[in-house]
Amino acid sequence: MRLADKRILLGVSGGIAAYKSAELVRRLKDQGAEVRVVMTRSAKEFITPLTLQAVSGHPVADSLLDPAAEAGMGHIELAKWADLVLIAPASANLMARMAAGMADELLTTLCLATPAPVALAPAMNQQMYRNAATQANLETLASRGIQLWGPDSGSQACGDIGPGRMLDPLELVEHCCQQLASEPLLAGVRLLLTAGPTREALDPVRYISNHSSGKMGYAIARAAREAGAEVTLVSGPVALATPPGVTRVDVESAEQMHQAVMSRVHECDLFIGCAAVADYRPARVAEQKIKKTGDNDQMVLTLVKNPDIIAAVGALPDKPYTVGFAAETVDVEQYALDKLARKRLDMIAANDVSRAGQGFNADDNALTVFWHGGQAPLPLADKLTLARHLIALIARHYRP
Ligand code: C5P
Repeated sequence: MRLADKRILLGVSGGIAAYKSAELVRRLKDQGAEVRVVMTRSAKEFITPLTLQAVSGHPVADSLLDPAAEAGMGHIELAKWADLVLIAPASANLMARMAAGMADELLTTLCLATPAPVALAPAMNQQMYRNAATQANLETLASRGIQLWGPDSGSQACGDIGPGRMLDPLELVEHCCQQLASEPLLAGVRLLLTAGPTREALDPVRYISNHSSGKMGYAIARAAREAGAEVTLVSGPVALATPPGVTRVDVESAEQMHQAVMSRVHECDLFIGCAAVADYRPARVAEQKIKKTGDNDQMVLTLVKNPDIIAAVGALPDKPYTVGFAAETVDVEQYALDKLARKRLDMIAANDVSRAGQGFNADDNALTVFWHGGQAPLPLADKLTLARHLIALIARHYRP
């Protein structure tokens, strides 16, 4: 009963996924939550208030201007009653109204009036989800601290395939449990994390590097700190601000990163290797700037292998819980599983960097996370949302 005594106000807006709301109410109640349901006008075209009244055990509220309802639990009282407002499904239209700050019916009014955290489970056609107006609204809502849970990606009721599916009711229940948990997920856990690219010097002015921006690693550092972890971030050169409360150690090369990690790894419980470490470095670093010569059109560089930092952590006898990343352009799952075994990791987050708009240097990403005996997709989302989901997943599997 992870939600015992928790009060959840479930908002249902108009979308085909509203048929799952009844199941969601039951699963929330399984965990001990008290659930009250508020429906929009159009939600009632998809599921009847009677169904949701029957499963929640309370009359469904749907009107802002109903004297009888206001005489019972009025809208301000209802807004104050909730420990969490969850809107599932959240339609494109509802999110547009919320982004505009409208109070045009009971549910939108409650969202303005509640002091409780508000979470949305978006559900709509993939094209509607991708539309710039919807994305701008989502960004606005997220910037105001409204949480976005999902959407999932896959086949849709309309026959399309893509992002916009409402998260499964059980996943939404898990989010509620984490949101309302009294103890932060990683309270007191010491996390050591690598992020960003490395630079492998050729001479005093040149280096070999890659396109890693460090955004994913920095988002993980922030999410882990939010979840109560003590975070040390070993960072390659990036143009990002250190997340609040995070200790940052700056390095340039893979060898420096290796050294910075190995000297601190014994003081951590959890290690996440998010850095895009250069696999090879120039065999020798010229002391002076290498000059181009008139007689040579080609230049041959000899590279030597860098230490594999995460494999070195995985090989320690008393290794921390170790999470790696795999950025691949083909056969993502196969390579990820191979790395999980070969580098002795506990978990690996794989992303397909061949897809436009996600992965390296992008603001959004999608991951598939593998561990021994299981896997979970973390659908396309901004990197902070994704990092929070990843931290929640790690917290569920991490055993000190
Ligand atoms: O083998 P590959 O580079 O694809 O593995 C990626 C994972 O290994 C990431 O977690 C990355 O941070 C880590 N890694 C490392 N040291 C290296 C190469 C990769 O820690 N030299």
